[in-house]
Amino acid sequence: IAALSVASEAYPLVKTGGLADVVGALPAALAPHDVAVTTLLPGYPAVLRSLDKPRAIHRWPSLMGTPARLLAGTLDGTHPLLVLEAPALFARDGGLYTDALGRDWDDNWRRFAALSRAAADLASGVVRGRRFDILHAHDWQAALAAAYLRYAPGPGTPARTVVTVHNIAFQGRYDAAVFPDLDLPAEAFAIDGVEYYGGVGLLKGGLESADAITTVSPTYAREILDPAFGMGLEGLVAAHAARVTGIVNGIDPAVWNPATDTALAARYTDRTLSRRPANKRAVEAQFALDAGDGPLFTVISRLTWQKGMDVLAECVDALVAAGGRLALLGSGDAALEHAFRLAADRHPGRIGVRIGYDEPLSHLLQGGADAILIPSRFEPCGLTQLYGLAYGCVPVVARTGGLADTVIDANEAALDAGVATGVQFNHVSRDALDTAIARTIALHATPDRWAMIQRRGMRSDFSWAKSGLRYAQLYRGLCTE
Ligand code: ADP
Ligand code: GLC
Repeated sequence: IAALSVASEAYPLVKTGGLADVVGALPAALAPHDVAVTTLLPGYPAVLRSLDKPRAIHRWPSLMGTPARLLAGTLDGTHPLLVLEAPALFARDGGLYTDALGRDWDDNWRRFAALSRAAADLASGVVRGRRFDILHAHDWQAALAAAYLRYAPGPGTPARTVVTVHNIAFQGRYDAAVFPDLDLPAEAFAIDGVEYYGGVGLLKGGLESADAITTVSPTYAREILDPAFGMGLEGLVAAHAARVTGIVNGIDPAVWNPATDTALAARYTDRTLSRRPANKRAVEAQFALDAGDGPLFTVISRLTWQKGMDVLAECVDALVAAGGRLALLGSGDAALEHAFRLAADRHPGRIGVRIGYDEPLSHLLQGGADAILIPSRFEPCGLTQLYGLAYGCVPVVARTGGLADTVIDANEAALDAGVATGVQFNHVSRDALDTAIARTIALHATPDRWAMIQRRGMRSDFSWAKSGLRYAQLYRGLCTE
């Protein structure tokens, strides 16, 4: 099977969050199942710079009103990459979605409609020498590809389409005035098309048009049937329920493995946990924390409401009072960044805060901290708890989405059975998080139990093996339908 995976980011070239990790890992995850994945990305400056002797394989005189070319390269030296070079849309300084001040580019609808249109062209035989059985579009930035294939297919047999929802909170909603420039037939502005509450919904139009819909955990697939999680799309998800599946993300062992990770001060396995404290010492040094054997918590996160960071900010004084320390790496809402800076000022030596984005430091924290706090209000899958499991950094998580599906709470029964891998709590609130932190500190005080939880986590299955197979089965099912 030949699949085209189209997204707005992919590790190691461009990343703002977990979407990039997953898109970057899919080619290797699917290769063992006889699926050859080609990835299509926008031609941001960082992506163009990564191309070694790029070859142009197609030209559009006008794609969404601007000239564009398709360049061929590789994602990581191995897996095929196609890049949509359209300077008017992507050759910009700033973020992937925002300008240098963090404001969304006001033509994001056009930028990602162009990406989606290019994907649909590729998936319907417009580009000579390229043929795909499956078009797999990720999130609102790529979802419209499914609508283009449905309403305006090219000359060849169109690929079957899969749209994956990594986060239904981000929907790509725009004013109806942009519709004429989307290059879709008038009939697409309809209740079962891209029309959405009188405007245009790029994710909505993609979901209405896709042959299959997936999201990144079974629990989130159920949660988004509920208005509290579906964010306006719960009705659509319910109407298409027969075509919706939840497939949990895995982690890329080439990137996240404590036995080989060069970002660590000391490498280790579940059999050599005694080497791990050298990483803790390195974290303490980097975050100006007092040395100690008491529990060191970490946070590696976007600082947003989704991630429950406002609640955590209310709990940090109690965390310190109970004997814990905290090393936080994150960026996001200015008010939350400020709140954590103040917390570090209140508790020198006990709370260290790094505002920013630092990939190597995120590895060191997983390898050195005792526990990672993830109090998300919703979490489609979540990757940092999986990295925590792999690194023996015990996840302390809200029971929602992928967090509920991947962590086993250390209650008495689970401890007795030896299956506990972390700490879970219900309903993100100050009381619940305080209690979870206190439980974690109590567990940590019993070293045998703690080591058992760490080892069980490190041995649990966070690989792509099962999920890669499930995507391959989904693709095969669509191709033979
Ligand atoms: P989301 O995609 O919703 O932000 P995930 O848990 O799926 O959440 O993925 C987040 C990814 O971004 C992980 O790879 C995590 O390590 C990384 N990350 C988040 N914040 C930072 C940061 N400040 N520095 C480095 N990596 C970060
Ligand atoms: C989104 C979600 C996160 C998920 C990631 C990758 O960013 O917020 O939960 O892990 O996508 O699927």
